[in-house]
Amino acid sequence: MLNCETGMGKTFDIGLERLTGGSGFSIGSAITTKNEDCAAQVGARAEASELDAIRGALRGTFFLETFGCQMNDHDSEKVAGVLLSRGYTQVESPDSASLILYNTCSIREKAAQKVFSRLGEFGLKQDEGRIIGVLGCVAQQEGEEIFRRAPWVSLVCGSASYSKLPELLARVEAGNQRVTGLDTDTDETFETPVTRRDNPWRAYLTIIEGCDKACSYCVVPYTRGPERSRGSDSILGEVRQLAELGYSEVQLLGQTVNSYADPTARKMRFSELLLAVAETPGLRRVRFTTSHPRDFTQDIVDAIDTQPKLCNHVHLPVQSGSTRVLRAMQRTYSREEYLEKIAMIRGAKRPISITTDIIVGFPGETDEDLAETLSLLDVVRYDAMFSFKYSPRPHTPSLKMSDAIPEEEKSRRLGILQEKQREIQAVRYATMVGERFELLVSGKSRRENQWSGHTSCHRVINFSSQEQALLGKYVQVVVTGATPNGLSGEQAP
Ligand code: 5AD
Ligand code: SF4
Repeated sequence: MLNCETGMGKTFDIGLERLTGGSGFSIGSAITTKNEDCAAQVGARAEASELDAIRGALRGTFFLETFGCQMNDHDSEKVAGVLLSRGYTQVESPDSASLILYNTCSIREKAAQKVFSRLGEFGLKQDEGRIIGVLGCVAQQEGEEIFRRAPWVSLVCGSASYSKLPELLARVEAGNQRVTGLDTDTDETFETPVTRRDNPWRAYLTIIEGCDKACSYCVVPYTRGPERSRGSDSILGEVRQLAELGYSEVQLLGQTVNSYADPTARKMRFSELLLAVAETPGLRRVRFTTSHPRDFTQDIVDAIDTQPKLCNHVHLPVQSGSTRVLRAMQRTYSREEYLEKIAMIRGAKRPISITTDIIVGFPGETDEDLAETLSLLDVVRYDAMFSFKYSPRPHTPSLKMSDAIPEEEKSRRLGILQEKQREIQAVRYATMVGERFELLVSGKSRRENQWSGHTSCHRVINFSSQEQALLGKYVQVVVTGATPNGLSGEQAP
């Protein structure tokens, strides 16, 4: 399962960098792909059409807002690629777009509600002739109900149907008012000839879509459909192209990335794929997320041990420290079995950072269960934790479970959990002062000589340097300061 919101993990960046927003850091100019010939064709078509004045003026522009996890971020990069290759130009504001798309998340209720509030804002603009589309998990979950709640929407497309997106868009462009792509039985993965990537140094690559696990609280198997792995030859081909384009870091994505099952005759194991990707000339770092504990095996640790380009970070969501709750969650492992996986990772020859996701307030969770989760934090001492209050979701088995925990009690438990992790991080990070890390520089502060970047183990460090033009470069940094939520440092010679 990929992360959707951050909890305690500020120094850890599991998601796509959002360095342009509010943090005082900005990312270097992103690589964008634009097909000028197609743009000209679309322009010619527009002349012939009878679109109203606003639609005519805005023709061929799209605005795409993404909610949720890295998988959604990366899907949006691919959707943008499809649109660019159809001659559209991306714009920064919905006001200047003829096509407005929301790529949505429904993992928790709050995330799903955001979309409807956005759609509400656009009801007023219905008569301006803009096309509005809802993509992703809320689209899949709500289906045609979206047309009822927001009749100004013309396209509803779930993530399992993205491979049909060009065809669906063509129907919308032709003036169809109610176009849907809601199949989840497709065995195709979403590959496009053009992907517009947001980050100029790190490329995301989905290697497995959907999920065949059946965690009782989780809507993903419903919204993203069954597991489909992409062929290893196609993955390796794209990785080579990415390296040639200058990306030095690749992150392999999947809801359960390590459940990868190569559909080609090569039948590469996940660990073999990791090693093969890492051997690509030009690449310096390979990451993967998110791992499911049940499919996490010794050969993955061995691969990280033998190949320094494989980043020393594993995101291994536990969800609860209580075997009783894990059973109710249908997580397919006990506390002890999870701890065996942790021991396997801790047994590696080089230190590997471990991060996790935890849900509090699952139906029936007792104070004793919470105590078990707290004691698990003491045992594992995670580098970062993402924590969530249980949110009942449509179509999930846990929806019907009794003993719901009241909201205030969930908040209380979340507070206790986060305080515990804060203490653990404070101690961990304090011991890092004086340590040296290699960073991929990905952000520049508005403050002079201040930069930020990621370690191989995926910590974000803000650091000072007198050098110029560091974005995208690898530098050595010594940690000089630590708080429970952040590390700071100076560039080292
Ligand atoms: N309620 C709260 N958190 C959830 N997650 C998934 N489904 C739910 C839910 N119904 C959390 C899990 C997962 C992370 C991405 O989101 O911890 O690992
Ligand atoms: Fe992750 Fe379980 Fe949801 Fe699958 S069902 S995406 S394994 S939390």
